[in-house]
Amino acid sequence: MKQQKIMVTSALPYANGPIHLGHIAGAYLPADVYVRFQRLIGNDAVYICGTDEHGVPITLRAEQEKVTPRTIVKRYHDDIKRAFERFNIVFDNFSGTSQLHNKHHANLSREFFTNLMNNDYISTHLSDQHFCKNCNRYLPDRFIQGTCPKCGNEEARGDECSRCNHQFEPIELKNPKCRICSNIPDIKASKHWYFRLDVLQKALENWLDTKTDWKENVLNFVRGWFKQGLKERAITRDLYWGVPVPLEDAAGKVLYVWFDAPIGYISATMQWAENKGEKEKWREYWQNPDCKILHFIGKDNIPFHTIIWPAMLIGQKQNYQLPWNVPANEFLTFGLTEAQASDKASKSKGNVVWVHDALDNFPADMLRYYLAANAPEKNDSVFTWKDFQKKCNSELLNVLGNFANRVLKFIEKNFESKIPQPVSFTPSDQQILSLIQSTMAKVHTCFENFEVRNAISEIVSLGRAGNQYFDEKAPWKSLNENKEDCQNCMYVSAQIVNAICVMLYPVIPQSAQKLWEQIGHKGSIVKWDQGAKELPGGHSISVPSGLFNKVEDEMVAVLEKKLGDALAGNSTPKQEESKTEASSEISLEDFKRIEIKIGEILEAQRVPKAKKLLQLKVKIGEEIRTLVSGIAQDYEPEQLPGKKVPILVNLKPAKICGVESQGMVLCANLDGHAVLMHPDKDVPSGSLIT
Ligand code: 2FM
Ligand code: ZN
Repeated sequence: MKQQKIMVTSALPYANGPIHLGHIAGAYLPADVYVRFQRLIGNDAVYICGTDEHGVPITLRAEQEKVTPRTIVKRYHDDIKRAFERFNIVFDNFSGTSQLHNKHHANLSREFFTNLMNNDYISTHLSDQHFCKNCNRYLPDRFIQGTCPKCGNEEARGDECSRCNHQFEPIELKNPKCRICSNIPDIKASKHWYFRLDVLQKALENWLDTKTDWKENVLNFVRGWFKQGLKERAITRDLYWGVPVPLEDAAGKVLYVWFDAPIGYISATMQWAENKGEKEKWREYWQNPDCKILHFIGKDNIPFHTIIWPAMLIGQKQNYQLPWNVPANEFLTFGLTEAQASDKASKSKGNVVWVHDALDNFPADMLRYYLAANAPEKNDSVFTWKDFQKKCNSELLNVLGNFANRVLKFIEKNFESKIPQPVSFTPSDQQILSLIQSTMAKVHTCFENFEVRNAISEIVSLGRAGNQYFDEKAPWKSLNENKEDCQNCMYVSAQIVNAICVMLYPVIPQSAQKLWEQIGHKGSIVKWDQGAKELPGGHSISVPSGLFNKVEDEMVAVLEKKLGDALAGNSTPKQEESKTEASSEISLEDFKRIEIKIGEILEAQRVPKAKKLLQLKVKIGEEIRTLVSGIAQDYEPEQLPGKKVPILVNLKPAKICGVESQGMVLCANLDGHAVLMHPDKDVPSGSLIT
């Protein structure tokens, strides 16, 4: 079969803060699953992303912190890139839209603007803008705040109200104030360039008429926009950070961030092609009618990807291909219970679970599994730690992991690690063998149609059927009573494990690969058909071991407390935290307030019912202190006495799982694993680290 070329992009996250699990669930995990699946069925999928590095939010943040926009961009680009790597979201290129990360981007953006101009899709108008005399500048979008013209919220941003979600022109905002100096701005006219979407409405409608199989939520949105009639939109701003408008009479103006951002998909592909040494290869995806282009986004980005961006592409008259599909998801919100979900997840409110925090506590695959099983595909969905625990423990551990482990262990123990030869199948064996085939076909369709939730529920059903079959066949009995029956059962069960492993690969790639090796395969999972093809009798398996750890109640309680604080607005938003984390700019005075000393561990024991915690008795000079440390999954208690380690000694004592911890053992963090650090020479306990 001909290999299909596929270009997959996910919305470029703003480099103005870290990402949370809502982002992952909406636009990144679904795309990563799709790409992995497409590659399994033999297609040529390229997955492109990067950070969105222009625009007011970044500029504003930079001004508030008194640093340059570049500093902000660098900090959050690196942080976001790392979050994706840790989550095993694998891009072919993760770029960015500023000069810092991509030299093609500004050129291509200028070219897009100029082509639209030359093709008569741009108009200009003088329009009233807010101008702050005190700061001597215009105040675009979020540089002002005031009262929402619709609902009266007094903390509305310049172009959108976070309470009623109404979007408006900044000039409509009531009681506007400069966000930098709180001055009341004047109104001053400024020339701006507008994209004439109205002229392109017909062409867009004709194109969208062919998209009858798109997700209903997306089509409804678009129809609504068409009904109101498309209007021209300003695509320039009075701002210094962004791609300068390539015209002489546009000094001090840049392209609107939403104009240059989607161009980032193409410029990042150009960079990818150049890095491969095949400079023109990007055209095989963007200018090739045989390539399918997909944009994975959250629902707030629908109009930009289904109307404005396609209009920009049509307006180029350069053979750019329009999106083949725009699978937009709804939102994931966060709650302690489903009923008490927060409002829309917001970076600035911090009413979310941050990706890095989640990964500090659980392996990526468990989080990926839950976010996929609870994906906001058709409706908004709610993330709760209790539901995470329930789904992981009941489905991933008890149904899927446990089934695989039961089967492989039984083969290891009773058949010298070889899948037994089947004899003659009974109807119930046959029924299961055909269930494997039909499930694989259904799951295939689900993955093709962006229905990962359904895919998972089909896979779990097969796991349940497998467990039930295994229980009914009771091979531990037939082993002695009816060996042939036992052989059949183990042969059939092994086929289920193999198929489940391949089907789960797009969702939980690391664990699936681990299971793949336990089943006795060499190399990586590369083909969907490897799941459908029966493993022969006599095939040797490798050593089985558990794939997932149980999510314990104590852990959930700790994380719920943290989320509860975040929802109540009592936690420091992560942006603030990372600001200090990532910046090297603390004063010496700040550092001097931190007291770190060498402590000698005298005793270590597990904290009952807390898998990750050890209770330590530590000698710091003359003093003996009790500490609770989250290193139990990386160190056994008996390894620790005698070790000298750095301790943060002036940390406010805190009760952790009923034990008061009087300080903190400092460890290096190696991909979520704690690594103890030792002094280079023997130093007495109590020595100060300066
Ligand atoms: O909503 C956002 O986070 C935007 N930064 C998405 C941009 S998507 C694309 F157009 F680049
Ligand atoms: Zn001002």
